[in-house]
Amino acid sequence: MKRLDQFLSENSILTRSKAKDAVRSGRVTVNAVKAKDPAMKIGDTDEVMLDKEPVTATGPVYIVMNKPAGVLSATEDGKDRTVLDIVKESEKIPDSIKKKDLFPIGRLDKDTEGLLVITDDGKLSHDLLSPSKHVEKTYFAVCTGTPAEDAAERFSDGIMVGEDYKALPAKLQVVSQEDGRCELLITLTEGRFHQVKRMCHEIGSEVEYLKRVSFGALKLPEDLKPGDLMLMPDFPEKVRTEK
Ligand code: URA
Repeated sequence: MKRLDQFLSENSILTRSKAKDAVRSGRVTVNAVKAKDPAMKIGDTDEVMLDKEPVTATGPVYIVMNKPAGVLSATEDGKDRTVLDIVKESEKIPDSIKKKDLFPIGRLDKDTEGLLVITDDGKLSHDLLSPSKHVEKTYFAVCTGTPAEDAAERFSDGIMVGEDYKALPAKLQVVSQEDGRCELLITLTEGRFHQVKRMCHEIGSEVEYLKRVSFGALKLPEDLKPGDLMLMPDFPEKVRTEK
């Protein structure tokens, strides 16, 4: 059970105080009867209408974004544009969703592009980021250098990053190499600060371009351009549970 004004503010474009005003001015009905009290309790089966339009409870929200370079994976920032600024400016996202407590699941560096999920589902975020779940994240990197023969083996054994940190086993696939440059696909199950860049540095390659292409079973849709986003009706169960 939830207060009527809370239900309205969570599931329509009204703020909590505007929801109270709407109830008091007779714009809201509950089970076809005009509501008078914003504190009235609403259950799952009650039918709420605002200005004769049904208001239904929305579940958690999942937005898939191709994060563009130059934007922070944060909710707000005094200086730089954030992924939440992109969501708020998007015409594809209804106002009722923009009002939710949305946040990105994990972070990509400012100069990294690619798959980012934005949600208000704290449990899903916790599950996907929990080190014990070992959710795989795959990155496409364009780098300087030519990886040595044993580079993939060093990644799969767990490469030393700096002097004090041994990365968890990771996959390295050399997509192409030519004229002292290479394209790599790197799959990790952890997400430490600048992890891909630091691991590539250890094999003598500096990352010049980085894009996340998958997160668990969720792939970056090919037609989603940097800066573009889409609302997912639900988060695929396969992605939630994938090891
Ligand atoms: N690894 C990095 O170095 N940067 C990212 O943005 C993500 C993974």
